[in-house]
Amino acid sequence: MVQIAPSILSADFSNLKDEILKLEKGGADYIHLDVMDGIFVPNITFGAPVIKNIRKFTDIPFDVHLMIDKPERYIKDFVDAGADIITVHQEATTHLHRTIEMIKSFGVKAGVALNPATPLETLEYVLDYVDLVLIMTVNPGFGGQKFIDSTRRKIKKIKSMVTERDLNVLIEADGGIKLDNFREIVDCGLDIIVVGSGIFEADDIVERVRMFKY
Ligand code: DX5
Ligand code: ZN
Repeated sequence: MVQIAPSILSADFSNLKDEILKLEKGGADYIHLDVMDGIFVPNITFGAPVIKNIRKFTDIPFDVHLMIDKPERYIKDFVDAGADIITVHQEATTHLHRTIEMIKSFGVKAGVALNPATPLETLEYVLDYVDLVLIMTVNPGFGGQKFIDSTRRKIKKIKSMVTERDLNVLIEADGGIKLDNFREIVDCGLDIIVVGSGIFEADDIVERVRMFKY
């Protein structure tokens, strides 16, 4: 069964604790935390201190998606805040292999995210070292955008790369995933789906999380 990582980007931040407890009740496998710096992406969200506070009221693993320039500067802060997976963008760090090794040295899982226009070939020489590949299915920066169709092929291709090499790498997709398209996207070869607005637009959030279990 696919794992679900609800993104709190579309949550009610004045009521974050309740929102997260609803996700937990619905059976969320991870909480997906979108960190944006206004430089790598045209939006600013939150950083390690907010994540550290959320950590106090849930034990669900934290899937931290860093949409920040030169993420290697802040890895330790996010580890200390309670991250279980830290994903950096290939486009945001010059020494990708070094950054992956840094994340793993703290005992957390290391992920690499690719923007929709970034080819999978950039992972050729690091795939053996990562725990997770995050395929962006929208251009990062905002919730509620439309799924980009060409990324379906990309998911299928990374799935076959991982299978061919017999690697233990999780494949995750993020952006534009809704009730009406998630099954066919999952079938392209995903282990984890990130869903933001597709959950928080619902009147009953607990039930909506359950509906993504497939
Ligand atoms: C986009 C973020 C996503 C976003 C997904 O930059 O990385 O995690 O919250 O939101 P939806 O599901 O609304 O596309
Ligand atoms: Zn994300």
